[in-house]
Amino acid sequence: MLFKRKATRKLYNPEAVPAHVGIIMDGNGRWAKRRGMPRMAGHRAGSNALRDITKACGKMGMTALTVYAFSTENWKRPKEEVNNIMALLLEFLKNAEKEIEGQNVQIRVIGDVSAFSDELQREIVRVEKVTGVNDGLVLNIALNYGGRSEITRAVRILADKAKKGEINPEDITEESISECMYTSDLPDPDLIIRPSGEYRLSNFLIWQSAYSEFWFSDILWPDFTVKDLEKAIGDFQKRNRRFGGVEER
Ligand code: FPP
Repeated sequence: MLFKRKATRKLYNPEAVPAHVGIIMDGNGRWAKRRGMPRMAGHRAGSNALRDITKACGKMGMTALTVYAFSTENWKRPKEEVNNIMALLLEFLKNAEKEIEGQNVQIRVIGDVSAFSDELQREIVRVEKVTGVNDGLVLNIALNYGGRSEITRAVRILADKAKKGEINPEDITEESISECMYTSDLPDPDLIIRPSGEYRLSNFLIWQSAYSEFWFSDILWPDFTVKDLEKAIGDFQKRNRRFGGVEER
């Protein structure tokens, strides 16, 4: 008897994956609530989803994946939740080498880390150094990150240079501002994914996302799978990006 092999049609074209994808990892709390679990269980499940998605992005040959893990506004959450998220981050970083073993991933943290505990700051420095030798996917973890605060930081850097007479005001260009961003050596995100049914940027990569494509979904982040990522990329590949120009014929 002959068995027909089921045709496996790819959800995306592996030859044209976006260079840089940003993800707002949202919906952890609701995921936990629906299961009658504490919010923290959602964050833990969210960090597992991140592990799978990072691996997939690396395999696809992306240059960078930037994930929003803790915003400058997230300090407003109950102290217990903030402490628990910090503990989870520390655990993630402590296990980082094991998590990304054999994947050639470079882990970086973007945001103002000075507000974190000494232990967390030390761990960030350690992981960035140890994984800095890798030249595959850059995984940017946005921590105590806010787009407005990143832009403010850039303005201060340039104002300081102008004060010292190193630059003139007319030397300030879009390029020189981009050079002051945390992502200065990376392409701008081509695609930004926000799961959980929210349709906001929430202060994420607001400078870099000027021409990003967006993909929204009702899936809660802990349920987000590699298949969902592939769907998002497939959808992205159908878009006609004109960057303000007109369609080429
Ligand atoms: C948003 O969901 C999620 C966060 C503020 C925390 C994100 C943290 C993780 C994914 C896990 C830890 C990350 C790393 C890098 C190990 P929410 O809590 O706002 O969900 P809700 O809108 O359903 O309440």
